[in-house]
Amino acid sequence: MGAGNGFAELQAELKRLARVKNAVILAHNYQRPEVQDAADFVGDSLGLSRRAAESDAEIIVFCGVDFMAETAAILAPEKRVILPEARACCPMAQMVDVEGLQELKDQHPGAWVVSYVNTSAEVKALSDVCCTSANAVQVLQGVPADREIIFTPDRNLGSWAARRAGREVILWEGFCPTHELIQLEDIVRAKQEHPAAKVVVHPECAPEVSAAADAVESTTGMVRYCRGDPAQEFIIGTEAGMVHRLTRDVPGKKYYPATRSAVCPNMKLTTLRKAVEALRWERPVVAVPRDVREKALLAVQRMVEYGR
Ligand code: 13P
Ligand code: SF4
Repeated sequence: MGAGNGFAELQAELKRLARVKNAVILAHNYQRPEVQDAADFVGDSLGLSRRAAESDAEIIVFCGVDFMAETAAILAPEKRVILPEARACCPMAQMVDVEGLQELKDQHPGAWVVSYVNTSAEVKALSDVCCTSANAVQVLQGVPADREIIFTPDRNLGSWAARRAGREVILWEGFCPTHELIQLEDIVRAKQEHPAAKVVVHPECAPEVSAAADAVESTTGMVRYCRGDPAQEFIIGTEAGMVHRLTRDVPGKKYYPATRSAVCPNMKLTTLRKAVEALRWERPVVAVPRDVREKALLAVQRMVEYGR
């Protein structure tokens, strides 16, 4: 980003504050390009959780959505975790509630609860293990064979990973409103326009979209795939911000969003200016109550160990 758009000064200020305050700036792959470009680390949910746990910084500025900052607070309670935009939430995470999940658990005593990291800390506290889109298949394969599995909240990730893992799961009917905007017709049209392109989609997409893809990957998995594959063009079926990450990290290839309408409004709430102000004033802080944190910790620790 050049100085002409005013970002360069804010980026320099964010980096200066981070140095002075011993802070690390983490940004999800869907963040605004100028925020990604100012971060110490840009990644998917799994990579960001690992970074948060392993960093020796005193402050984590989490440019993402609430469940990501909460997960960092669960893994690193001694650090101050700042979410620059307090309203940045994940609607999918809000589709599963503690009461409903407890009821389902009561109906299936002995079942393991596998929760996507896109859940509240309270739901994680009711879970046996968490997963991300990068390791959901391995996590399901790790559940003892004699146990039923409740998978929450994403029905699309759950059914895709269950098929891959060769396990049956009881699905919670949650979904990502942004990924469900990507339709099979979008893929068909993009393939007609770019016949040489490979199709890479996120497992939050609807089953018929995943079935039409050459690869189904987490956001960082997409970077790896596009780097390693000999194809020079890719149709990208996920949130539109991913194209920036790919263009920056795997340059020289072409990336076409399956649809430009797949934008996560919550991910875009964080601006560079908000990140600077948040670090300057060290708020808003995301903290998880101690009893919830202690109950959620094992499930989250198991998550970061799968797929290393
Ligand atoms: P990744 O972990 O693949 O980055 O996905 C996070 C997310 O919220 C996707 O919508
Ligand atoms: Fe949640 Fe979907 Fe936005 Fe990811 S893209 S944060 S799953 S709403």
